Amino acid sequence: MKTEVTMEKLVALAKTRGFVYPGSDIYGGLANSWDYGPLGVELKKNITDAWWKKFVTSRGDMVGIDAALVMNPKVWEASGHVATFTDPLVECKTCHERYRADQIDLSASCQKCANKGTFTNPASFNLMLKTWLGPKEDASAVAYFRPETAQAMFIDLPQVLQSSRKRVPFGVAQIGKAFRNEITPGNFIFRTREFNLMEFEFFIHPSEWEMWFEYWLGEMKDWLAFLGVKEEEVVFHEIEDGERAHYSKRTVDIEYHYPFGLKELYGLAYRTDFDLKLHMEASGKDLRYTDPKTNEKYVPHVIEPAFGVDRSVLVTLLSAYTEEQAPTSEEGESATRVVLKLPKVLAPFKIALLPLSKKDELVTIAQALADRLRQTWATDYDETQSIGKRYRRQDEIGTPYCVTVDFETLNDHAVTIRDRDTMEQVRVKIDELENWFAEKL
Ligand code: GAP
Repeated sequence: MKTEVTMEKLVALAKTRGFVYPGSDIYGGLANSWDYGPLGVELKKNITDAWWKKFVTSRGDMVGIDAALVMNPKVWEASGHVATFTDPLVECKTCHERYRADQIDLSASCQKCANKGTFTNPASFNLMLKTWLGPKEDASAVAYFRPETAQAMFIDLPQVLQSSRKRVPFGVAQIGKAFRNEITPGNFIFRTREFNLMEFEFFIHPSEWEMWFEYWLGEMKDWLAFLGVKEEEVVFHEIEDGERAHYSKRTVDIEYHYPFGLKELYGLAYRTDFDLKLHMEASGKDLRYTDPKTNEKYVPHVIEPAFGVDRSVLVTLLSAYTEEQAPTSEEGESATRVVLKLPKVLAPFKIALLPLSKKDELVTIAQALADRLRQTWATDYDETQSIGKRYRRQDEIGTPYCVTVDFETLNDHAVTIRDRDTMEQVRVKIDELENWFAEKL
């Protein structure tokens, strides 16, 4: 595993370069809430766009929806979340600090007050984030922010089938926010109370579940490679009987070696017909599917690949973070260079335009070129500080190509393009830039 990247270094870089900031900062923050800054929002969007393209729009057997965050509470009663979506909670009897019982050693001392043997017995703590709809704050107005996007894919199934004319096997996908009142959020954007999910329910005939499970596991592996995650950084953990979520007959957790330990990144579950059957019972609506060829009427089963967006951002940054020795302008000297070797398609900026000096004749050309190139590729422009410092900044934010406009440009109508990873420089005619970048990006 990589040793050079620590959470301290990554969080500091994310903050100073504008990927992710602490939320509500001027009011002292809000524990474990994070805001995506100008570069983070681009990286996150590039990830979700690529996911949507790979799993939805480039396929003929997938459609998307975008459902309400707050649904009828009957959905969560029927799905079992109100009764069983819980984590075991213990409290230190001395200082009243609360912990997840499955994440600490109950025979050890309290991490906050160092007293020993003072934990309460574990109690079930429901993770649903509650609110009230309308002007009355009583039991009749209670509603929940969704803890997963999945349930909307089940309850909207009849409308999706009717309007899209899809046939089983096919999937319904969604990207959006989910909320969980986590007992112990933490580790930057790894575990928060408000997070983003990308997931889909792939509806199948039950006889085909094993084939589809393996197929989607393979696609998830491809996706990890696309993010730049190396095989040795992940573990595919087959969850044992008795350990799985209440709805699953087979689950594989995809775990990642984070700097804070081996923990879950994504999940793949065979949810059977568990959810559709519960919703049929609770709503009284027939959610069965009729096969147009065989006329067989059955409740479709589902394979569910679930991807945390924020964890995708985190592992993409961790995988891309690199420190290497690079020569400085001083003869024979070198210094540590921090570079985010992001896949080009995910980099917030693809190109940076850097005039060598702030002289008008260079700035005019560089600004015009930046405006021209950003019609096709996300392009940054920077004229402050020395060229070395500007290269360093672009390396740290993962920009694949820096374009320098220098005094020679005035004569040869060419610019220097520097490659982020190799630091090699080539001279390219201004007229040929679009063709050059179209090939590289
Ligand atoms: N519909 C299935 C489902 O929600 P899950 O394993 O509970 O499954 C799916 O969550 C994914 O969401 C996880 O694999 C993880 O990537 C992400 N996730 C879960 N809880 C999270 C949290 N509190 N903060 C950030 N991401 C979270």
